[in-house]
Amino acid sequence: MARLRQHASLRRFGDPIPSSRQIMGELGVGPVTVRRAVAQLVAEGLLTTRPGLGTFVSRPTTRAAPDTDWQHVSLGASPVEPAGLDMIIRLRDTEALPLASGYPEPAIRPDGRIAAAMARAARRPEAWSTPPQAGLPELRAWFAKQIGVDQEDVFITPGCQGALSATMRGLLPSGSPVLFATPTYPGALAVARSAGLVPIAVPCDSHGIRPDLLERAFATTGARLLYLQPTFSNPDGHVLASERRASVLAAAAAAGAFILEDDWARWLGHGPTPPPPLARDDDGGHVITVTSLTKAAAPSLRVGALAARGPVWHRIASMRLVDDFFISRPLQEAAVDLVTSAGWGSHLRTLSASLRHRLEVLRAALAKHLPVCPYDIPAGGICLWLELPAGVDEDVVVERALAHGVAVTPGRIYLIGESERSHLRLSFASIDVGAIDTAIRRLARAVGES
Ligand SMILES: Cc1ncc(COP(=O)(O)O)c(C=O)c1O
Repeated sequence: MARLRQHASLRRFGDPIPSSRQIMGELGVGPVTVRRAVAQLVAEGLLTTRPGLGTFVSRPTTRAAPDTDWQHVSLGASPVEPAGLDMIIRLRDTEALPLASGYPEPAIRPDGRIAAAMARAARRPEAWSTPPQAGLPELRAWFAKQIGVDQEDVFITPGCQGALSATMRGLLPSGSPVLFATPTYPGALAVARSAGLVPIAVPCDSHGIRPDLLERAFATTGARLLYLQPTFSNPDGHVLASERRASVLAAAAAAGAFILEDDWARWLGHGPTPPPPLARDDDGGHVITVTSLTKAAAPSLRVGALAARGPVWHRIASMRLVDDFFISRPLQEAAVDLVTSAGWGSHLRTLSASLRHRLEVLRAALAKHLPVCPYDIPAGGICLWLELPAGVDEDVVVERALAHGVAVTPGRIYLIGESERSHLRLSFASIDVGAIDTAIRRLARAVGES
């Protein structure tokens, strides 16, 4: 890119720059690298491409940077509350060994299959037309089968995040309380806070949300919504115990409340089949389930589904319509192709075995380098919730760890209000398995210094 910029700066407006072939020869790079660099400079307005003729230096357009200070006055207080999402993105974008990202790394993704499915999808006759509003029927049917509801109860969403947002905003006016089984997913907290809702913590133990506290929380707050991850909760990987499922449903029914079930990790088990979505046990229309392919397939396959029964379906579907009309049809076509292909089952088995192996490697590294830090073994999912020794400040550890070249997430962004202990969330899906031991050794150094 720098070389191309130099070529452009040494020439005058209208001059051609060397051909792609020449640049490839000069720099020893491939055609994709050259194409991407040219595209970047075309996008910046430095170059223009003319079909069949070549690439030329554009007329320089220099505009003074506008004075935008007035915006500070007009914008006023921000309603947007990233609530930790900004921290996760900052940690994801460093060069440090990645124990902070929430998405599996390329080595355990079916990227080749997705690429092939996308290529087929893009060639279908209807590919670029408007899809049915609720999504392609085949995709709705597939998700319905996975969740255990009817096809009409499902609509397609852009992963879980957009579905969580549409649901919270669609159901509750600003200022309403929302219950969160804690520790919880910062992205859901960010949605609630950005919608002006008031998150209230209902603590979990290793068997999931405590039904006694849930009943009390519904009674004292008047909340009409509970956000819950019954299966492989982010950040600690617990599963809601089977004997608690009925009490949780009964508490919501007694309060006339909805449960927003975030089933984001359905296909991220490490062995035995996980319990079915809570929606299967619900015969009163209390459970709204969201699920997604982004974790089991790839983060940019932004396709998921929401299942709900009764008038609430239309409420949330209307919010999705207002937000962005529908989900890109080629993405939906590719998703159907992928999940109904013969290779999907074997991909899920490989993914599961790989997550199990990574967790074993991580646990061995923790036993070796950080034996003082306790944790519960996650039943599935991609992260481990590590307790830090008393008196150790997690924010200091995160910064020191970054300085030593490892990115981990501070526990406070998964909590609401005060916490008695410091934690870190370690994600074992985003890092090369061969680097886990080094990452934990670096982390141990950071903990030792904090
Ligand atoms: C618990 C949980 N829910 C939802 C999401 C959002 O996932 P997506 O929008 O990619 O489906 C994430 C992503 O990290 C998550 O951890």
